Amino acid sequence: RDGSATLRRLRETKDKNTMRQRFWELGGSKMGNAMGVKDDKGEEKDSEEVDESGEVDYKKNSGFASHMKKQDQSNSSSDFAKTKSIKQQREYLPVFTVRDDLLTIIRENNVVIIVGETGSGKTTQLTQYLMEDGLTDYGMVGCTQPRRVAAMSVAKRVSEEVAGSTVKSKMTEKDELGGTVGYAIRFEDQTSEHTKIKYMTDGVLLRESLRDPDLNMYSAIVMDEAHERSLNTDVLFGILKKIVARRSDLKLIVTSATLSAETFSDFFGGVPVFRIPGRTFKVETYFAKQVAEDYVMEAVKQVLQIHFNSGPGDILVFMTGQEDIEGVCSMLAEKIGTLGEGAPPLLVLPMYSQLPADMQAKIFEAAENGVRKVIVSTNVAETSLTVDGIKYVVDCGFCKLKVFNSKIGMDTLNVTPVSKANANQRSGRAGRTGPGFAFRLYTERQFKDELMENSVPEIQRTNLSNVVLLLKSLGVDNLLDFDFMSPPPQATLESSLYQLWVLGALDNTGALTKMGTNMSEFPLDPPLSKMLLFAHENGNCSDEILTIVAMLSVPSVFFRPKDREEESDAAREKFFVPESDHLTLLNVYLRAKQHKFDSQWCAKHFIHSKGIGKSREVRAQLVDLMKQQRLPIRSCGGTWDVVRRAICSAYFYNSSKIKGIGEYVNMLTGITSCLHPSSALFGLGYTPDFVCYHELISTSKEYMSCVTAVDGAWLAELGPMFFSVKESYANRLLKRDTEAKRKAAMDKEMALAQKQLDAREEAR
Ligand code: CDP
Ligand code: MG
Repeated sequence: RDGSATLRRLRETKDKNTMRQRFWELGGSKMGNAMGVKDDKGEEKDSEEVDESGEVDYKKNSGFASHMKKQDQSNSSSDFAKTKSIKQQREYLPVFTVRDDLLTIIRENNVVIIVGETGSGKTTQLTQYLMEDGLTDYGMVGCTQPRRVAAMSVAKRVSEEVAGSTVKSKMTEKDELGGTVGYAIRFEDQTSEHTKIKYMTDGVLLRESLRDPDLNMYSAIVMDEAHERSLNTDVLFGILKKIVARRSDLKLIVTSATLSAETFSDFFGGVPVFRIPGRTFKVETYFAKQVAEDYVMEAVKQVLQIHFNSGPGDILVFMTGQEDIEGVCSMLAEKIGTLGEGAPPLLVLPMYSQLPADMQAKIFEAAENGVRKVIVSTNVAETSLTVDGIKYVVDCGFCKLKVFNSKIGMDTLNVTPVSKANANQRSGRAGRTGPGFAFRLYTERQFKDELMENSVPEIQRTNLSNVVLLLKSLGVDNLLDFDFMSPPPQATLESSLYQLWVLGALDNTGALTKMGTNMSEFPLDPPLSKMLLFAHENGNCSDEILTIVAMLSVPSVFFRPKDREEESDAAREKFFVPESDHLTLLNVYLRAKQHKFDSQWCAKHFIHSKGIGKSREVRAQLVDLMKQQRLPIRSCGGTWDVVRRAICSAYFYNSSKIKGIGEYVNMLTGITSCLHPSSALFGLGYTPDFVCYHELISTSKEYMSCVTAVDGAWLAELGPMFFSVKESYANRLLKRDTEAKRKAAMDKEMALAQKQLDAREEAR
């Protein structure tokens, strides 16, 4: 039930590169996560079977149409934004009505939980109130966000608000983003010495606590979006609880959009909960009559239905990720396009984390008069971002969740049904500025019987090796003693400890090794920091590995436009290094560097110059971190075998042995996987006996992504806990022996057959 035929069709025609390339095409400038998508093992449904009539079967509500006509005149707050000053907009928010009470309760308590409906002004206003109350005289006001997109876009909005309340003509550098108001996300720091309000991802603050255990730079910390229960926020809870106990001058404010704030209050020993009075309007919710086979198609139909039959008001569609969002957007554009001039215009806007910032900002802009806006978003619009003027919500009922997959030993992104709490949040987005309508693309029975009340906190479902390494670095020796709000499963903790031990970050007693301490200094996943440090210690190739790690930390830089696939593939092939995709990445970078990262050169070779540019920035930051640790940067000067060995040192547990043509079997899990068609090894038809890979991508089958050929002996040397030469040598002998026996048997058989033939010949 968790699939969509359209999505499957989309996926079959795209590979990882084309999925990612859009990012740079659109002018991307941000970091992105690897896009491993794992789902769709469900039954195959022919997408052509889907009813194209455009009819949507909803529980009829007789008053629906007339009711809607009555109240559609007003509520576009896009108009509100256009006509009201920033000050007026700020004062219109629900949180403004309780500003003084709020500041009083914060003055009187060190920890306060604040609950308020999404859009009441928690994220944008609280930090400003604290600044206005003088708290920034003693340190920064920090505000954490589980999502990068939110950190950046909210910081931009708040910097405008702060500048708006000063005299416009005297705009100084302090008024710009990165001045009084700034933000920090991994590998991107937009703050300065003027910064008083700092928005950041929860991961950034967590890392800052490594350097500054008391977080003395801050006078107040707002832990925003706590209801999301993101992994880093959950860990921060435990850390901040200790810090507030030590620092009586620190204000901690925890905000939540859901009413169940008692968990948070209890965790801090029963601190006060302040509720911002809501200003929500009635949202009428409709369920699908039948179980949807294809939520992409259903969403498109539903949007068109609203667009053609209902009064003004913008539409917000919840999808799961970039792929299905782009699917819905392109299908909508296509349908509207085929209707020609007469059709009412519809402004279609996607919203997902990999989308470049300027494209993301578009969702907040008011459309031209009379034009309806439809925003197709991931669950970032559920509570993190508030767009005004939404009157209709379409909810596909699914979201992407990162889940630790014990079968392959790493996290995968799964398309999962949302929880009831998520579904209600989504519907609620329609009723912020006036009464609204929510259309759920699933049945009422599914809602009641199949959705969980709340989703499982991330800490209880994902790989924790990064967190474990960090906690160990903070001196938490026994993880079971750590004050987790929701303790992670013992098995996940153990598997994370094991992964760190395998990488040499922990010793046999579970204590941090020197390697582990050094690894924790880098904002990288443990295998990547291991690769870097191994390169430094053993191979003298840290220069090369720095580049590879930086290239792995940005979305693919290969550009593969739709109608020029062959041409771009040929261009890419010129960079191929036969035995390694990692070295291919290095090669691309070095060649681009030779040409001074010239954008014309990049375009000619189908390389995203912005992508390469971003990897240069990441590399520069990693170089700084190396310098801070006094680790000299050395190059192997072209003897690239040492580079492959360093790669092997980090990924030996992702190693596979050849099984057939382009087919490999993981030596630890026994899972069969293939070389990805975009791999250099695949392209050049090189199939070494052993390979290591960066990650596994599951679409219709399992693919190894970013592959490097390794020497069997290296595996035994670098991963002695798993492999031994003796064993593999014995195996080889055994194989040779069986092979010889088989050959002898065959010879014998042949000889026998020949003899019989000869005898028959003679008899004749
Ligand atoms: O955090 P909470 O959900 O309570 O509300 P908020 O994010 O502070 O949003 C308050 C208001 O700021 C909303 O009316 C948004 O429309 C507006 N806002 C905006 O115009 N642009 C942004 N990038 C973020 C918020
Ligand atoms: Mg918020």
